[in-house]
Amino acid sequence: MQTQRPHALVRFIRYGWVPLLTLLLSACHFDMYNQPKIQTYEPSSFFADGRGSRPNVAGAVAVGKAQTDDYFATGLVDGVEGDRLPVELTRELLERGQAQYNIWCAVCHGEAGFGKSVIAQRGGIVPANFHQQRLREAPIGHLFNVMTVGVYRGDPAQGGYQSMYSYASRVSAEDRWAIAAYIRALQLSQNATPDDVPPDQRGNLGK
Ligand code: HEC
Repeated sequence: MQTQRPHALVRFIRYGWVPLLTLLLSACHFDMYNQPKIQTYEPSSFFADGRGSRPNVAGAVAVGKAQTDDYFATGLVDGVEGDRLPVELTRELLERGQAQYNIWCAVCHGEAGFGKSVIAQRGGIVPANFHQQRLREAPIGHLFNVMTVGVYRGDPAQGGYQSMYSYASRVSAEDRWAIAAYIRALQLSQNATPDDVPPDQRGNLGK
């Protein structure tokens, strides 16, 4: 037996309020929508030049728009990776670099920089080993540049992809140099000879 559809009026009473209520509520603004404000390109009598749209405050830098043409910000000299640490090399810098490295990089590259980590084991990605010959010989500007722009495999316009993301928005330039210096220390730690140890501490070797 076919079930009978309810009468149109019954159906309206049952469900008709849903679209009605939606319509009513969507037109309501109880927030800051209703307040005096300048619309785009509207003139304003508040400012002396009469313009409602204001120029940028002097010295303000929008995210991603920083002046990035000097060595400190890029690690590049005329587009080529430089081999100079543009900050003073101190114990504090290395300790800062170690802390930042352990926060940002060790998850993939491992605490000692061999590229062995839980992520490498499980994630199917191959983070670089910093102790390979090529990276030991790379200028420090390369380490900095990699953190600044990331690593690309091939041209993204031609199906290439980014195999390591940039850290420029998360790690300041100062800290990126600190990390680069610390990676140099990690590299040295795996390739040092007894002569690199200060004479007064050589007695501790092999203990
Ligand atoms: C999410 C994982 C991940 C994190 C976190 C990560 N990396 Fe990497 N990194 C990679 C991978 C993967 C590669 C290899 C990319 C390739 O070979 O295409 C790589 C490569 C590199 C290289 C070698 C580039 C070259 O010339 O081959 C350097 C240097 C490097 N990373 C530094 C860092 C530093 C410093 C940090 C922390 C600020 C960091 N990475 C954080 C995944 C990561």
